[in-house]
Amino acid sequence: MINQQEFIKKIPKVELHLHIEGSLEPELMFKLAARNKIELPYASVEALKEAYQFNNLQEFLDLYYQGAEVLQAEQDFYDLAWAYFETCHRDNVLHTEVFFDPQTHTERGITMATVINGLTRAKQQAEKQYGISCEYILCFLRHLSEASAIQTLEAAKPFLAQIIGVGLDSSEQGHPPEKFQRVFSMAKQLGLRRVAHAGEEGPASNVASAWELLDVSRIDHGVRCLEDAALVKQLARVQMPLTVCPFSNVKLKVVEHLSDHPLPSMIANGLAVTINSDDPAYFGGYLLDNLQACSETFNWDRAQIAALSYAAVTASYASEVRKSELSQLIDNCLAEFSQ
Ligand code: HPA
Ligand code: ZN
Repeated sequence: MINQQEFIKKIPKVELHLHIEGSLEPELMFKLAARNKIELPYASVEALKEAYQFNNLQEFLDLYYQGAEVLQAEQDFYDLAWAYFETCHRDNVLHTEVFFDPQTHTERGITMATVINGLTRAKQQAEKQYGISCEYILCFLRHLSEASAIQTLEAAKPFLAQIIGVGLDSSEQGHPPEKFQRVFSMAKQLGLRRVAHAGEEGPASNVASAWELLDVSRIDHGVRCLEDAALVKQLARVQMPLTVCPFSNVKLKVVEHLSDHPLPSMIANGLAVTINSDDPAYFGGYLLDNLQACSETFNWDRAQIAALSYAAVTASYASEVRKSELSQLIDNCLAEFSQ
């Protein structure tokens, strides 16, 4: 089993569902609060960590948006992203597609340029220093209006070279995909890829409508698709990638325990599942931790872990050249461990 954990650490990994604001560790939050002279409503890092108990998505989002208020200057966004790339390097995550929520910042008077320039500088350094490839996905907050989403897309136009696509996150209940059909169609016309959170807390019908109306090429979470057998068949037939986040689903009580998670059933149904960390600073672990815990809980062997790594490469928006490089690196790791 120790060997399996070592294998999971070594195997080249790809992450497709990570909110950069959700990688803000309490220690960095305190450091940035001090730097920006912001008072946090917690006495210590420990007190903040104790507050990370959530009964649902909304309770988490309330703390997540509060935490993001310490991000003010370009350097803060750089520091945030750089800290994440350091964990990628440590854990052998070689390609990552990272969400950011500009409205969380622009609503506080911080410019799109401040956010994107800081994130981009960290990405360029990660590519150069660690050989990690990264793409950024701009997410619209679904609890805000369609007009605000359109305004955000407009503000992002000077930075399209820094963004591979758009996504949709925040409160799923009461904010179905239909609300964002027009802005997603505008994003498509700009040549951007499209993904959306759907079927996390919301019903399977949100997965179907994100697919149909937003024309997404990946579904984030998607676990509740299992409530619609016909939809599962269609998703499996076209191999629509689902970016599943096991620790997140436990922390936000989508499932009670990891052992109750529908991952094994999703895999058995032939769905194109990938494993991801979502908001690792809030949910108790990074991609590696999610994979290690799932592997133990579900008794996965090396072949299963490798299959998940290959699936994430396939589901990614990396170039074909980068995809074949990543696949080759996974092949090499498998060969090394089978000797
Ligand atoms: N769901 C919806 N919105 C989010 C999440 C999530 O898991 N994490 C950050 N924003
Ligand atoms: Zn998410």
